[in-house]
Amino acid sequence: MRKPALLVLLGAAALAILVAHGGAASGPTYNRDVAPILDSKCASCHRLGGIAPFSLTTAGEAKAHAAGIVRMTRVGLMPPWMPGSDSAAIIGRERRRLTEAELSTLAAWAANGAPAGNSADRRSRPARDAGLSGPGRTLTLAPRKAYVPHAPGGGIDDYHCFVLDPKLTQDAFVTAALIKPQRTGIVHHVILYEAAGPQAAAAVQMNAASGGKGWTCFGGPGLPFDLSDSSSVSRLGQPPWIAAWVPGHTTNALPNGTGVLLHRGAKIVMQVHYNLIAASGPDRSQAQLRLRPATTPLTRLETQLIAAPVELPCPAGVSGPQCSRQHTLQDEVNKYGAEAAFVPAALLKLCDHTLADYPQSVGAGTAIPTTCDRAVTQPETIYGVAGHMHLRGRDISVVLDPGTAKEQTLLHIPAWVFHWQDVYYLRQPVAVGPGDTIRVRCSFDNSKDGQPIVGAKQLTPRYVLWGEGTTDEMCLGMLSVATG
Ligand code: HEC
Repeated sequence: MRKPALLVLLGAAALAILVAHGGAASGPTYNRDVAPILDSKCASCHRLGGIAPFSLTTAGEAKAHAAGIVRMTRVGLMPPWMPGSDSAAIIGRERRRLTEAELSTLAAWAANGAPAGNSADRRSRPARDAGLSGPGRTLTLAPRKAYVPHAPGGGIDDYHCFVLDPKLTQDAFVTAALIKPQRTGIVHHVILYEAAGPQAAAAVQMNAASGGKGWTCFGGPGLPFDLSDSSSVSRLGQPPWIAAWVPGHTTNALPNGTGVLLHRGAKIVMQVHYNLIAASGPDRSQAQLRLRPATTPLTRLETQLIAAPVELPCPAGVSGPQCSRQHTLQDEVNKYGAEAAFVPAALLKLCDHTLADYPQSVGAGTAIPTTCDRAVTQPETIYGVAGHMHLRGRDISVVLDPGTAKEQTLLHIPAWVFHWQDVYYLRQPVAVGPGDTIRVRCSFDNSKDGQPIVGAKQLTPRYVLWGEGTTDEMCLGMLSVATG
């Protein structure tokens, strides 16, 4: 049947109006309504060179992804924000969360065919990533040469330490750090340690002994203990941290008014954890530091670590040598060296637990818990909190004074995703002192279905302990505190 000519004409006229207005005249348009949302809350990652796989900075790009934008924002998966609503108020949360009004605007725009609207309406500009802003000077440091990672003891993990020289003639505050892993597919973490005083000399020596290539450094950088540094106990014996990078990390700047002290003459040991699930290749990751003179009146922040034991037996119905704790210990010694054998026992002791506190039969449980309590020994103020687990981690929290009237959850990540880790700075720093306790709590899924996938294959369940590899586990709480 032929359509009456008038209807065809009317239809064409309506289409012409739609085209002229770039879509439904009354509904939200990209330029007027959607761009301000995507520019401020998505573009820091969804831009050319950003960490997201596609950019969302033009009407065309937004339209091409309209359905995905609505799907991911409605369920709260984008923008990524891992802390649960029971966490303390965190700086930057509102930059990540969408309001109800913003969610409806996106949905209405997509439902109308994702119209561009009038380009003269575009007022916003795509946010750049945080970069290194604020007063000070920027120092860029990288190892002299690229390094090709290989798992020294077999397995799929390499920890390599490089020495970087900031050549400081005066003490300085680091107020922001931008760590740029080059080969993001294999870099699983980067930690910048300060090697000051005798440790600087040791780092230089170890580097020279390696022909300048750096050394294998599972656990920590392996520098001799600085016995004069009593605060190293709160870092599990490690040298002071300057900064760290983990997958998903986007918070580069310390809170306003704070800094990490870097001493004159200190070297920086950059520990890079390479996980070779993906193919290896030369990597030359770099670090940029924003520095201000140590005379600037800033509050000095230091890192503290609280680690809990990880004891994950095989699930019911799975047996074999890989289900014995001893087997796993031996495996870790082979891969990471003799010290690896002491860590699980040391963690039990440090947390005042014994193996009897960990059930050796967990059935089909998918939330095997562990905790560690740290008694606060001196007055200090907590500015930042982070949690770290690997691929079987499901839930992590850092809680102040659990089980008391003063209980306060500093950070709770209820649905752990290895690829979305970050450090979270508290809007209101929390003062603590002797009498207070800080508890880190983790839960893990070691069931058949919960096993990590390596290559295209899901691993067979085994007894899992704290270990350096991405397919081993950790339960680590990190605090950024000012002491005194
Ligand atoms: C902190 C960085 C970051 C921010 C901010 C961010 N994204 Fe993403 N987005 C990513 C990364 C990385 C991926 C790919 C990996 C993934 O899906 O987790 C992604 C994936 C997506 C996908 C595809 C997911 C799929 O599986 O189909 C959509 C759609 C998306 N983002 C939309 C948005 C929107 C809309 C915003 C803002 C309202 C936003 N994102 C904010 C980093 C970010």
